[in-house]
Amino acid sequence: MAALKPSRTPVILAFDIGGSGIKAMRLDPAGRPLGERNRLSTPHPARPAAVLAVMRSLAASARPFDKVSVGFPGIVRDGVVWSAVNLHDSWVGFDLAKALRKALGKPVRVANDADVQGMGAVKGKGVELVVTLGTGFGSALFLNGVLVPNLELGHHPFRRGETYEEQLGEAALDEVGLKRWNRRLGKAIKVLSRVYNYDALRIGGGNGRKVTLKLPPNVTIVPNTAGLMGGAALWKA
Ligand code: BGC
Repeated sequence: MAALKPSRTPVILAFDIGGSGIKAMRLDPAGRPLGERNRLSTPHPARPAAVLAVMRSLAASARPFDKVSVGFPGIVRDGVVWSAVNLHDSWVGFDLAKALRKALGKPVRVANDADVQGMGAVKGKGVELVVTLGTGFGSALFLNGVLVPNLELGHHPFRRGETYEEQLGEAALDEVGLKRWNRRLGKAIKVLSRVYNYDALRIGGGNGRKVTLKLPPNVTIVPNTAGLMGGAALWKA
């Protein structure tokens, strides 16, 4: 009788594309890390071909893997990019899922980065709002663990004629410094809590670790690795 081949747990290669870095990590189907997170700088200009080249080189050092998940910093529908304000205008209309499938030879699922981060961070009970603080301002809304996709709070007016992203994105942090940025975040939390009446607000993104203000009990900081770990959830549906 032929010996049975030992079966290998399927490996998901998760990417998190950001305005300053592109991160990759191998995960098991439950979203548990199977190794270190790798990061390369986002190329500038961040056109599709340049970003894909970086993803290809991250993938080359992550083999073997069976499926690919991507958190993308803009609106994504059926694998196609609808907006990419912090990367490059030439992304609009680009079929990222198709291009990456061709480049890596594996099935690919793509979603908004904040949606993916949320999938890695929510507990699945009640109304959970997720915001991500990084180059941009990401947002995701969940009801009992079910996502309302592509919430784009970042470009909504917040205060002084500016949007949440203009007041709380990386450029604003660089401009006004940690103290004022934290004060602004406190104001944003008050507004969001009145609008969404959430059970929990989860704050992620690379600048989540720069939050020093005292947070209300239903507001927590989640590690930025949730932006990769949530990638496994894209393969659950
Ligand atoms: C984009 C969002 C994205 C966020 C964080 C915003 O500028 O419009 O789709 O989630 O940045 O990357």
